[in-house]
Amino acid sequence: MAKVLVSDPIDQVGIDILSQVAQVDVKTGLPPEELVKIIPEYDAMMLRSGTRVTKDIIAAATNLKIIGRAGVGVDNIDVPAATRQGIVVVNSPEGNTIAAAEHALAMILSLSRHIPEANQSVKNEQWERKRFVGAEVYKKTLGVVGLGKIGSHVANVAKSMGMKLLAYDPFISKERADQLGCTLVDIDLLFAESDYITLHIPKTPETTHLINKEALSKMKPNARIINCARGGTIDEDALVEAIAAGKIAGAALDVFEEEPLGESKLRDYENIILTPHLGASTAEAQVNVAVDVAEQIRDVLLGLPARSAVNIPGLTPDVMEKMRPYLQLAETLGNLVGQLAGGRIERLTVRLQGELASTKGQPIVVASIKGLLSQALRERVNYVNAAIEAKERGIRIIETHDASIRDYSDSLHLAAQGSLGEHSVTGALLSDGEIRITDVDGFPINVPPSNYMLFTVHRDMPGIIGKIGSLLGSFNVNIASMQVGRKIVRGDAVMALSLDDPLPEGLLSEITKVSGIRDAYTVKL
Ligand code: NAD
Ligand code: MLT
Repeated sequence: MAKVLVSDPIDQVGIDILSQVAQVDVKTGLPPEELVKIIPEYDAMMLRSGTRVTKDIIAAATNLKIIGRAGVGVDNIDVPAATRQGIVVVNSPEGNTIAAAEHALAMILSLSRHIPEANQSVKNEQWERKRFVGAEVYKKTLGVVGLGKIGSHVANVAKSMGMKLLAYDPFISKERADQLGCTLVDIDLLFAESDYITLHIPKTPETTHLINKEALSKMKPNARIINCARGGTIDEDALVEAIAAGKIAGAALDVFEEEPLGESKLRDYENIILTPHLGASTAEAQVNVAVDVAEQIRDVLLGLPARSAVNIPGLTPDVMEKMRPYLQLAETLGNLVGQLAGGRIERLTVRLQGELASTKGQPIVVASIKGLLSQALRERVNYVNAAIEAKERGIRIIETHDASIRDYSDSLHLAAQGSLGEHSVTGALLSDGEIRITDVDGFPINVPPSNYMLFTVHRDMPGIIGKIGSLLGSFNVNIASMQVGRKIVRGDAVMALSLDDPLPEGLLSEITKVSGIRDAYTVKL
């Protein structure tokens, strides 16, 4: 039975889903040295933001197939290292959207009305009505940095509270911003005009310290900053300095450069509100993310695709389902052309032909690479790491589309250039989804792939087929089917044989000795 390690607190509903297919061990708060020791036992891992899945942990995770992040941000996982090792990383992109957006909105209102300090004051038996005069958000300008899922929900609700909306997001269209009632502006204008600035961006090299001393110097004295996105997007020292000098009016932070927050001057100011990374901490969101991620882990352990894999670009379950026969075709052809080419492959060209030409090529290219590398890497290559493995081996991948080639309504052509020469294969799907190899090295044939195959390039002359047949018979190899493809009579031809048995050692070199045989290749699919 598969084993799943749950290394951060996860709602029980997720654990129940995983328990249907695996042994689930809940071990939270493990130090990295302990985690590295036990991780080789596990097939899957489920976590929140507490566990850091570093390169070292991934290197030790020799059985790991999937890492499930019950939340959005995967910045606590070394995704490139996981990808290289063929480990699927999944998250829950929408499970906590509302929770995080509502937390940001609560922060905006708490900052405006001094809720945390006023609450504390009353509990301290004070009644300080003058001290806590607040500000209304109505007709104030809210600058939304990052107009994705959470930023959009914040914008929607803020609009209904009568706020004017500015947004900065270089990857969002003007139409989308217009739909949300936001004016898309450059970041400096947003800094200069906003009364409230709320961050809803991932932490990337571009967003690290996006709010720094210079940015803070551009803001209005009544500006208030809210960060319920990611620690490190604000330079905390610069923020403290700006608050201390009265350059901005306040800040509300749920996320920090270091978590848990250590010694920090952020605690010293009444107009800085701090919460301990609570954005996703609602009962509803925790159920959502636990179910979302546990279901994906269960599916992957059962050999099904994950719906929100962050490191299998373009291969969503929908695409997988629709494209499955073509992916199978691409894998088979990749495997075949890789074996025909042999040696070190330098270039793989993938051409989508006929009606297939109008399809997005990426999934088919990935499947072709997976097939190509499968002889060398066996089960180590999968949809996650195929492209990266090809890149690391210096294999150039070329994708082309040609709708004008219509031997079949749609077909796929692969050519592999390697240290031993170039070979090409073409294949198509029959109406029942069966695969046919329709061309090898430019010679038209029509054979189904089979476990054991023999291909020869020979001179088209009487007797040659009989010789090969009797040679195979003398080694007790049964021929399931045979096809010859030629371009001209008595010119060169290709023979494709499907065999019931593998070719015994030594037989291939006997075949190449037959007069008229130029080349022979044995293939295992
Ligand atoms: P999302 O991917 O839907 O949106 C992120 C947006 O940021 C995208 O529209 C993207 O175009 C934009 N963006 C990327 N780089 C940018 C840049 N340099 N400048 C401006 N915009 C940029 O993600 P989401 O679900 O809305 O989550 C937003 C953030 O909130 C993430 O960092 C996520 O990890 C975090 N989050 C925090 C909590 C919490 O508990 N505090 C909960 C959920 C999500
Ligand atoms: C997230 O990215 O989803 C958040 O950080 C929520 C969390 O895991 O607590």
